[in-house]
Amino acid sequence: MPSTDITSLTILKALLNAEDGFVSGNDLAKQLGLSRVSIWSRMEQLRSQGFEFEAVTRKGYRITKKPESLNPWLTTAYLDTELQIPELVFLSSIDSTNDHATRLLANDYEAPFFVISNEQTMGRGRMGRQWHSPPSCNLYLSFASRPNVRPDRMQLFTLWMGVCVARHLRERLELNIGVKWPNDLYFDGKKLGGMLTEARVDADNLRELIFGIGLNVNHTRKDWPEDLRQSAVSLRELAGRKLDLNRTTALLIEAIYTGYETFLSGNIRDSFEDLWPELDVLKGKFVEAKSRDRTVEGTASGIDNRGSLILKTSDGKVITLNSGDVHLKHR
Ligand code: BTN
Repeated sequence: MPSTDITSLTILKALLNAEDGFVSGNDLAKQLGLSRVSIWSRMEQLRSQGFEFEAVTRKGYRITKKPESLNPWLTTAYLDTELQIPELVFLSSIDSTNDHATRLLANDYEAPFFVISNEQTMGRGRMGRQWHSPPSCNLYLSFASRPNVRPDRMQLFTLWMGVCVARHLRERLELNIGVKWPNDLYFDGKKLGGMLTEARVDADNLRELIFGIGLNVNHTRKDWPEDLRQSAVSLRELAGRKLDLNRTTALLIEAIYTGYETFLSGNIRDSFEDLWPELDVLKGKFVEAKSRDRTVEGTASGIDNRGSLILKTSDGKVITLNSGDVHLKHR
C-alpha cells in the first residue's frame, strides 16, 4: 500500500477535526507554509485514495466521502499523535500478518511495529486452524516487538491484551464484550475475535513477541461461511450499524499499544485481578476442556496467578489447565 506523507496527513487531520466539517484552503496553506496549488495537489492525492471533497466559496473544503476499506491515510489520521504509536506497515493482501511480522523481525526490521492487512490469504488461528480473513470488512493485525524480558513475565500477556481490547470495545460501543479463556473475544456465546501470541525465546530471554488479533468488524450474516454462521458474530451485527473500519483499526492500535506498554512496565497484576472476573465469560459455567493429552469437565472457576484455567470437577477435584480448548457444556 502507498505510504502516507506528513503534509497530506495534516490536511486530512484538519478536515476530520473541523467542527462544521469545513477547513479553508487559505488557512491550510498558511498553517503548512504551502501554496494553495500545493494544497490542491495533496487533495488530489487523497482523492486518488478514495476520499471525496466538496469545495464551497468562503468556507473551504469538506470531506464528503471516506474510503470504507483499510486505508493507511485514514487510519493514521485517526491516531492520537500524543501516544507516539510506532510504525504501521499496511498491506493490501498477505498470507498472515503474524507470518509477515515474523519475517520482518527475522530481517532485523526495527521494532516495535504493527502489520495491518486488508485481507489474509492464509490467516492462522490457534492449533493450526484457519482464520477466515476476507478483504475489506474485518481487522487483521499483528503487533511485533523485541521485549527482552524473562519469558515467565509474559504468562498473563494474551489474557491482559484481551482485557484491554474488550474494555476498549465495551466503552466505545456499550456492549458487554468479554474474554473467553485463553484467547477469544466473545459476546453472548459467539466469537467476535481471536488472539494469537507467538514468541521466540533464546536462553531464558524473550527475544521476539508477536501479538496477532483478528476482529470481526463489518461482516454481515450472509457473508459468513456455513461452518461459522452459528458461532461467529461481528461488531456490525452487535452495534446494528456499519462501523468505520479505519477508525476501529486506529482505536484498536491505541488500545493494544497502551496495553502492551502497561504490561511491560510490570504493574498490571492488581488491575488484572480486578478486571478479569468482570470480563471472564466462562466464570461459573460448566465446560469441557480439551488439552493435548486429556479432556476434562467441570465448572470454570476463574484463573490462577499464572493465567491457568481453574476447573472444579463434580467429584470435588480442582484442576488447572495452562492451555487447551474450552466449550460450554449442557448438563
Ligand atoms: C484464534 O482464535 O484461534 C486466534 C485467531 C488469530 C487471528 C489473527 S488475524 C491477525 C493475525 N494473523 C494471523 O494469521 N492470525 C492472527
